[in-house]
This record gives sequence, C-alpha cells and structure tokens, in this order.
Amino acid sequence: MDSPQEEEKRAAARRGASFVENGMVVGLGSGSTAAYAIEFLGERVRAGLAVRAIPTSSRSKQLAEREGIPLIDFGSVTELDLTIDGADEVDPQLDLIKGGGGALVREKVVASASHRLIIVADSSKQVRVLGAFPLPVVVVPFAVPRIARLIVEMGASVALRTDEAKQPFITDDGNHLLDCRFDPIPDARALASRLGETPGIVDHGLFLGMADLVVIARGANVVELRRERPK
Ligand code: A5P
Repeated sequence: MDSPQEEEKRAAARRGASFVENGMVVGLGSGSTAAYAIEFLGERVRAGLAVRAIPTSSRSKQLAEREGIPLIDFGSVTELDLTIDGADEVDPQLDLIKGGGGALVREKVVASASHRLIIVADSSKQVRVLGAFPLPVVVVPFAVPRIARLIVEMGASVALRTDEAKQPFITDDGNHLLDCRFDPIPDARALASRLGETPGIVDHGLFLGMADLVVIARGANVVELRRERPK
C-alpha cells in the first residue's frame, strides 16, 4: 500500500499524462512524480498512442526506454508540444523551485522549448512563498568556491550537494550543484536575474512564469491551477 503522498503523486501524474495527444512531441520530466507520469504515458503508448519524447535526465531516459516510449533529441526538433514535470515548490503565481533531483538544467531547456509546461505534484509542494526548499544552483566545478561565497553574501546558507559516497554530486552535464537555503526568497525575480548574470552559474532552480498548468493532488481530489498572466 502506497503512502498518502505517493498516492497523491500518482493521481497528479495520471491526470498530467492524460493531456498528451496523438502525434505530440513530449518533454519527460525528472523526479519521482514525473516518473509516474512516464509510466502512465508508457501504458498509453503500448495501447497505441503515437508520441515522440525528449527526456530531461539519464534516469528519465532509462525509464522511458523501459516503457517503450520512442525518444528523440534536439537534433530532430526545436520545439515540443507539451512537457510534464514535477516541482519541489509551487507558489500561488505558479512560480516554481525545481532541481531537487539535480536535473534542472535539462529540465529548463526542455520546458522553455515547450508550448505548454504541465507540473504534476503532491499537496506538500504548494507553498505561499518560495524558498523553504533549498534552491538548487548548478555551477561549473572550477567556480564552486567563489559562487558559494557570493550566494552566502546574498543571505543564503549554502551546501555543496554530495552523492552516497560523500563525493560532490555530478549532474548529467558534468557540473556541481549548490543547495542554497534562503527561507524565504524575498524577491524571486531579482534573485533569478542576479544568479543568471553570474559567470560560472550554469542555471538555477527558479522556474518563473514558465508553468501553464499545475496539477496538484490533495487526498482524493485533483486540482488544476491555470496560469492567469500571459507568458
Ligand atoms: C528534478 O530535478 C526536479 O526538478 C523534480 O522535478 C523535483 O525535484 C520534484 O521531484 P519529486 O517529484 O520526486 O518530488
């Protein structure tokens, strides 16, 4: 028997996967909720749905291959119809923190190339203000000590993410990751532009103005929150 949180993840993921239509090019997110969405999409593909998909991490790629979902890359398309992904935090404006799984760089590339970004999440991800979850910031290894000090000066406590062997975590693209706890982030847009302008930072987990639809499961209810502002 799954925990209530896993049940919510599955329910949100199932609804998210139902938005995929025949012939679409689909972005496959990363993390445990996106993994459920990949499994539900796999069921639909095996039942005859024709899609092509771009995965956002080596893990999602492996899972999609196991599910029999045809995969492509940016060698054959420049745009996607739809991406389904998870999130670590979702605020009332549908701004997000992502990257808990360490895949945020590819997730943001795929999301920004997609006509629609659908986020699937359990109820624990809904917050009033972003930032209790440590913001993941992906950094080229050479610059890590300098960037860590700069982000501490911005008011965060900063930890270099490590793997099970206590070695620095390496992203799919060979970079390191700093988990930066601001708790809360006072001005997400100002922080995003500051981080975005800093050489050595590859990308960060603030996904602002990107989600079109957030599917949140709370107990037995699945709620769809739509973006009100134009992108
Ligand atoms: C992966 O890098 C993340 O952006 C995930 O989407 C996020 O961490 C949510 O993961 P869960 O669905 O496992 O909570």
